Amino acid sequence: MNSSLAPARDIDGKAIAAQVLNEVRDEIAELARQALFPALAVILVGDDPASQVYVRNKLLRAEEVGIRSLEHRLPESTSQAELLQLIAELNADPAVNGILVQLPLPAYIEEHAVIQAIDPLKDVDGFHRENVGGLVHGAEVLTPCTPSGCMRLLQETCGDLRGKHAVVIGRSNIVGKPMATLLLQADCSVSVVHSRSVDAPALCRLADIVVAAVGRPQLIDASWLKPGAVVIDVGINRIETETGTRLVGDVDYASARTVASAITPVPGGVGPMTIAYLLKNTVIATQLQQSR
Ligand code: GUN
Repeated sequence: MNSSLAPARDIDGKAIAAQVLNEVRDEIAELARQALFPALAVILVGDDPASQVYVRNKLLRAEEVGIRSLEHRLPESTSQAELLQLIAELNADPAVNGILVQLPLPAYIEEHAVIQAIDPLKDVDGFHRENVGGLVHGAEVLTPCTPSGCMRLLQETCGDLRGKHAVVIGRSNIVGKPMATLLLQADCSVSVVHSRSVDAPALCRLADIVVAAVGRPQLIDASWLKPGAVVIDVGINRIETETGTRLVGDVDYASARTVASAITPVPGGVGPMTIAYLLKNTVIATQLQQSR
């Protein structure tokens, strides 16, 4: 049980994302006073249904806050050279401030080559090596959206993060590694637990903060948690149920909330934050481009 014996409170990602979007609107109004009108190009190759939903949501939210969105839907048959040509054109277009290539790409396209082709100052995903290196060095760069959103949720929930022990479960380039770096910058002690870790639950039980990003449905239950831990669940997994399918996180929510002090629900936790920080990154990209 958590220290108060009450179930964990939900961390309301929708409400905090709405706050971030309001900040973005204010920043866009300020840019407009300087005759700057941020535009975001989103490229989707192929017709993966989940990617189509993600891209549609990104474009809708962009328009809602006043960011012009440019959609580039390319057929599954698009060659790597054609995709690189489009990126070169968007890099060279001063009216485009952000470029996002939705992942995953078809297997025959090298993801790495595509990401490295994006102008680092337009790389709103923060995946380019220059931005990854800058993040590790503590420079002012574009940082990946999901980890940035998780940091905001933690700051709103815990206030000061200094000295807390954070355990990140998962070591992907998109979430786990940048998340660990951001937590370290916030003066947390950070452990990264992964598939080769010995006794992951025991390591996790040392954590004041747990960030789960492994893509394994409901892997983390109460037995992994220290009483009072704050839990951020990045997972979005669709599972079969007797009545159809349902979205669950990497955390077993019902079990974990008996021990945690605060937890993100799925959906409605991290998801809305990722889009909010994509739009914030588009504003930051527009600002950074003014000083080149
Ligand atoms: N696919 C799943 N997550 C992401 C993300 O954060 N950015 C991009 N570009 N594609 C994704």
